[in-house]
Amino acid sequence: MEKRELLYEGKAKKIYKTDDQNLLIAEYKDSATAFDAIKKATITGKGVLNNTLASFFFELLNREGIPTHFVKKLSDREMLVKKVEIIPVEVVIRNIAAGSIVKRLGIEKGKPFNPPLIEFYLKNDELHDPIICEQHIYALDLAKPEEVKVMKELALKINEVLKKFMEEHGIILVDFKLEFGRLPDGTVILADEISPDTCRFWDKETGESLDKDRFRFDLGDLIEGYKKVLEKIKGEKNEKG
Ligand code: TMP
Repeated sequence: MEKRELLYEGKAKKIYKTDDQNLLIAEYKDSATAFDAIKKATITGKGVLNNTLASFFFELLNREGIPTHFVKKLSDREMLVKKVEIIPVEVVIRNIAAGSIVKRLGIEKGKPFNPPLIEFYLKNDELHDPIICEQHIYALDLAKPEEVKVMKELALKINEVLKKFMEEHGIILVDFKLEFGRLPDGTVILADEISPDTCRFWDKETGESLDKDRFRFDLGDLIEGYKKVLEKIKGEKNEKG
């Protein structure tokens, strides 16, 4: 597999072409941003950790039959992925109230959502990723109803798989953000990344945030939190549940 020219540089990853037109290389950077990049930092080691964690989660989901863009981990910071056309809708699943919903709707942090909430956000940095509803997706022609149906079904299935797995390893899956893409034949699959940058993870015993909230709200060293996630998920299954 030959790495070719840079196709796109995002806030946390660089995407490169390869000699295969259907495959891309995602390279995870050491940068952290929050609040539409108002807050930025270089955090040495973050890219390697997120590539490791995202590869682990994609492998877990692929084993559970969830279609993702992940092909394989190539190196410390690189993974090989299928080229997709990204659907510009961020799908957020919430099991417990935290983050923006607490402020927006005045909900108490920690309130459980049963069933989990599904929210949509327009992927547009200039507009600050506004929350939208399903009708907006159709009005703006962002995705077709059949595609939204698949995105919702996959998002809920991903939640079930990840929530159970994390719970068994001592971590509460509070909420997370997903992005989906279309393969050339139109199939909708999971794309982008799943990592502590895009999920809220709380330590089941202590309630400590082990995710990017550490950086967003100065809750502690980011690398220490991400390493704890890696140690826990790689460790023995916690039989106490
Ligand atoms: P929120 O509570 O700030 O709306 O975030 C919900 C989830 O989505 C949380 O797990 C963090 C993740 N997220 C991203 O991955 N990217 C973003 O740009 C934002 C705002 C949130």
